Amino acid sequence: MRKPIIAGNWKMYKNQAEALQFVEAVKNNIPSASKVESVICAPAVYLQSLVVATKGTDLEVGAQNMHYEVEGAFTGEISPSQLADIVVKYVVLGHSERREYFNETDEAVNKKAHAAFAHGLTPIICCGETLEEREAGQTVSKVSSQITAAIAGLTPEQVTSVVVAYEPIWAIGTGKTATAQDANETCGEIRAAIGEAVNDYVAQAVRIQYGGSVKPANVVELLSMEHIDGALVGGASLDAASYLKLLEAG
Ligand code: G3H
Repeated sequence: MRKPIIAGNWKMYKNQAEALQFVEAVKNNIPSASKVESVICAPAVYLQSLVVATKGTDLEVGAQNMHYEVEGAFTGEISPSQLADIVVKYVVLGHSERREYFNETDEAVNKKAHAAFAHGLTPIICCGETLEEREAGQTVSKVSSQITAAIAGLTPEQVTSVVVAYEPIWAIGTGKTATAQDANETCGEIRAAIGEAVNDYVAQAVRIQYGGSVKPANVVELLSMEHIDGALVGGASLDAASYLKLLEAG
C-alpha cells in the first residue's frame, strides 16, 4: 500500500505572518501521518520558522529547490546540508518553473536527487509535458526521460523513497486539469518507466503525485485513481481551509 502524500507548494507567496497564521489554522486538524503525509513547501526564508511552528505536529516542511553542492561560492543558493541542518524533510526538485525560468536541466536534477539522499532529505521530483509536446504525442517519452534521468544512479531503495510529481505544464495555475483518466494513464507510464529502469518491485512502491490545478473539487476523483498517490498543489494550498480539504481527500 502506498501512503498518500499531499504537498502544498506555496511558490513565491505569503509573508512570515501569513505563513505562521496558516500553521496555527491547520495544525490541530492535520490527519495522522499514519494515514496521509501532509507537507508544505514554503519559500526558503520561512522554512526555519515553519519547522519550529510545526514541531510536534504531523505537518512536514519542504523546500522548493536547493543546490547540489554542500557548500561553496554559489551566491544566493541553499545547500542540502543547510536544509538538513534546520530539519527540513522534503525538497521539490525540477519543478517546471525552475526548468523554464532558471534553466534547471535533467542533469542538475539528478545531482540534486543524489545530494538530497546524501543529506537525509526526501526529493519530490517533478516532470511534465508542455501543451505542444502533448499535442505532438510526446507526453510519455518526455516524462519518462525526465524521470529516468532524475533517478539515474540512485539505489533501488532510494528510488523507492522518491516522490514523483507528474505536472502537465499546461495545467499548472491555469484551471485546466488533466482528466483523472489521462493523469492516471501518464502516472502509470511513469511507473512502467521506473520499472524498466530499476525493477517492478520499486515501481509498485514509488509514490506518484499529480499536480496542476488540483483543488478540493477535483482531488477526490484524482486520488481515487490506481496510479495517483497524492497531489502537489500550488494555488489551492495557500488557503488553510482549502488545504485541509485536500488532506481529508488523502
Ligand atoms: O507545484 C505545484 C504546481 O505547479 C501546481 O500549481 O495547483 O497552482 O496549478 P497549481
